Amino acid sequence: MANVVVVGAQWGDEGKGKIVDWLSERADVIARFQGGHNAGHTLVIDGTVYKLNALPSGVVRGGKLSIIGNGVVLDPWHLVEEIRAIQEQGVEISPEVLMIAENTPLILPIHGELDRAREEAASKGTKIGTTGRGIGPAYEDKVGRRSVRVADLADPATLEARVDRALQHHDPLRKGLGIKAVNREALLDQLRAIAPEILRYAAPVWKVLNEKRRAGKRILFEGAQGALLDIDFGTYPFVTSSNVIAGQAATGVGIGPGAIDYVLGLVKAYTTRVGEGPFPAELNDADGERLGKRGHEFGTTTGRKRRCGWFDACLVRQTCVTSGVTGIALTKIDVLDGFETLKICIGYDLDGTRLDYLPTAADQQARCTPIYEEMPGWSESTEGARSWAELPGNAVKYVRRIEELINCPVALLSTSPERDDTILVTDPFAD
Ligand code: IMP
Repeated sequence: MANVVVVGAQWGDEGKGKIVDWLSERADVIARFQGGHNAGHTLVIDGTVYKLNALPSGVVRGGKLSIIGNGVVLDPWHLVEEIRAIQEQGVEISPEVLMIAENTPLILPIHGELDRAREEAASKGTKIGTTGRGIGPAYEDKVGRRSVRVADLADPATLEARVDRALQHHDPLRKGLGIKAVNREALLDQLRAIAPEILRYAAPVWKVLNEKRRAGKRILFEGAQGALLDIDFGTYPFVTSSNVIAGQAATGVGIGPGAIDYVLGLVKAYTTRVGEGPFPAELNDADGERLGKRGHEFGTTTGRKRRCGWFDACLVRQTCVTSGVTGIALTKIDVLDGFETLKICIGYDLDGTRLDYLPTAADQQARCTPIYEEMPGWSESTEGARSWAELPGNAVKYVRRIEELINCPVALLSTSPERDDTILVTDPFAD
């Protein structure tokens, strides 16, 4: 049986919700392997809108096992609230359908406070534009070996020791930022109160997943954010604090890399980014405004307006390599309807030299100017097309050109937010 990893191949917000939902219907297990509640997935099922941040998209479909893997950082209070909200919408959540890896590090209130305090204190040019949800500080504590993890909630003495270890680091840090010391007792009380609500879902996820795999179950690894926000391969330091690329699916749940059969890269037919950082093909003109308006480009989690630009084939070619993408799902092509001319960034000019990738050094990134190729647009609507025959000729040419430029075939083409408005070329789950 095939196991599929879905990763964003740009800066996130590629329209994962719909594709992940479409794939999760075909899967038995859906696992999150990185990120936290900085992600925001909107699912529309039979007219009902579900908003998810930390929960895997599979939870809204009955009969699936949803997993939060150890690669995630988990805010327990947010999770309980998210569960409550979707339960109110009639979705059943129980330990039979949701499991949380015991070795998942927790996001504590102190992480969010630190994240926001740092952003407020940052000078122009150093602000990251984070979601303010404590993701970075929680990952810092993980690699600093001072996290409180899910399993620690079960034993009062361990919990106290873990909290003390974390506060040894955080109190001096907070003092430097002018934030008052942590109220240790209040934090412990909060943790003790939430503990049973989290522990009921705690499980040795690595073991469960490997058993599922041996039993021939189909696993969908649901990535959040996008490969250009990857801590190693993204536009550092304007990135998130986890590995986003497909290789993380293995370490983020505890399964061997050989378990991954297909990597589906999510690619929007143009480019967007939320937050600060380099964006060579950004448009600060009427075309950019038009993409944002037509594409409803506002953040699901923070409501921030997304920056918009032409399709950057150079960057997507790069992320298809770093994530080992097998095929892409191309989304939101209908947003391009009506443009007379379309541009695709095919490389960069750096001080007179042509580059076919984005260099790593920040000063060089800043000096890279996009080299564009122009293509004729189309006046007809592509919205809702369900076959190639329904697409205007120039739209087909645009898609084919993208495939050539990124060296990767289109497996799925999405033509509207409706789940059935999809042109299927290759089913990633097919054996
Ligand atoms: P953090 O993940 O909150 O630390 O934010 C770091 C960067 O990642 C910021 O530029 C955020 O806007 C961006 N980011 C985090 N999560 C998402 C997402 O789900 N979609 C798009 N951008 C995101």
